[in-house]
Amino acid sequence: MQKILILDFGGQYNRLIARRVRENRVYCEVHPWSMPLEEIRRFDPIGIIFTGGPRSVYDPTAPHVDARVLELGVPILGICYGCQLLAQELGGQVSPAQTDTAREYGKTMTRFDLSCRLFSGLPEESIVWMSHGDYIAKLPEGFSLCAESAACPSVGICDEERGFYGVQFHPEVNHTEYGRDILKNFLYLICKASGDWTMEDFRLRTVEEIRRKVGGGRVLLALSGGVDSSVAAALLSEAVGDQLICVFVDHGLLRLNEAEEVMNAFSGRSLRLIRVDAQERFLSWLSGISDPEQKRKIIGEEFIRVFEEESRKIGAVDFLAQGTIYPDVIESGAGSAAVIKSHHNVGGLPDIVEFKEILEPLRMLFKDEVRELGLSLGLPESLVMRQPFPGPGLAIRVIGEVTREKLDTLRRADAIFREEMLRFGQSGSCSQYFAALTNVRSVGVMGDARSYDCAVALRAVITEDFMTADWARLPYELLDKVSNRIVNEVPGVNRVFYDVTSKPPATVEYE
Ligand code: XMP
Repeated sequence: MQKILILDFGGQYNRLIARRVRENRVYCEVHPWSMPLEEIRRFDPIGIIFTGGPRSVYDPTAPHVDARVLELGVPILGICYGCQLLAQELGGQVSPAQTDTAREYGKTMTRFDLSCRLFSGLPEESIVWMSHGDYIAKLPEGFSLCAESAACPSVGICDEERGFYGVQFHPEVNHTEYGRDILKNFLYLICKASGDWTMEDFRLRTVEEIRRKVGGGRVLLALSGGVDSSVAAALLSEAVGDQLICVFVDHGLLRLNEAEEVMNAFSGRSLRLIRVDAQERFLSWLSGISDPEQKRKIIGEEFIRVFEEESRKIGAVDFLAQGTIYPDVIESGAGSAAVIKSHHNVGGLPDIVEFKEILEPLRMLFKDEVRELGLSLGLPESLVMRQPFPGPGLAIRVIGEVTREKLDTLRRADAIFREEMLRFGQSGSCSQYFAALTNVRSVGVMGDARSYDCAVALRAVITEDFMTADWARLPYELLDKVSNRIVNEVPGVNRVFYDVTSKPPATVEYE
């Protein structure tokens, strides 16, 4: 399999570069800039990308590469810091830009030399996304300029003979109009990629690897019903059948019919699926608790206790499987160490379960790749395309004390909202949407009678990373329909609010 190596110099878009490469059906991995030469050789990349980074290359303590990386005969694309590093390592000179010369931030009109393979097929001029305070004052021997802006002559540099390319801007971000084409040119025209990274391939290869590793051993997995653990379960069950034991703790805090959907999704498969009905236990611990942090803590601890009890019944296992995915791995230091996903539900489990090794079959996949894999494994779309759902479930979407009645009310309102979002074709337009049960009670009139009932809040957000989010401008007709249906169909609710707050200052969840 052909591979691209992304050497990480600490830039903020590094994960996005990996995403873009994989979108082109070329496998890649992000590794720290300090990756030893021997490991790079063993990785055997068809091309290397140096990412951006916050430092200045002329700073004596700034990260560098082993100079022998440049002698491997492998094409290299340097982005921003990576471009400057490439230039400096090969004998060029990088200097701080003066205010009126080459310092650029944001969208910048750039002219390209279309005879350079990196820019082949592009228009002569287009917008790129700049973010740099240094510039290349002197080109290294053998290099020529291949892109320029009004402020900076060295926006793009190349030595086509040796396969070295550098761009000051960020081709990976959407603001760069032809960024995807530039990366595609690097992969296909320069590194001669054949596009051999397919999900079907990955699946077959991973199934083989899991079989080889697990042998006749037993594998334990905590199945939450979320996308990652469900896809991990389906993949592992394909690989090792009933050597896989999944424990699904039903804490009673899932959405309408969700527990049944999870069970159904795995019903025809060969695995041991243990559903633990712990609804009463969770409810009784939550009784009288209104503080959101306390609720989270109780749920997390109780989950571990239930899992511990079940795993005692199962006895020692050889492997503990987890649905860790690539963003978790990259965030924790570019794949250098084994990471235990610190999801509140599974954090801490390794301490209480006796096992020999951790198994993380999805650790090299991005979320949308996990979804693609889930579909190819035959999991239902409703499960695979599921939006994010917090580990503590509906308990944190019921404001104040959690009771069975309140959970039932919320489940019904939430199901109506989700149903109408689908019907109005809006489900794909938001990153996450749900109903929450506020602790507001107010007077209303229903028929001729006075009511004193609860208010449901609807929340729908658009976000890239969930760190910041904007509220979704849903059509009034949709909100009208949802509101109407909720007050008519859900007893105990006489008011519906729509949350028009962004994050910050609010959060996505209600709590
Ligand atoms: P907030 O409310 O912090 O939510 O703006 C950001 C995103 O994180 C999700 N979330 C969680 N996910 N376990 C999870 O797996 C949790 O405890 C948890 N709390 C919040 C939330 O749904 C949103 O997508």
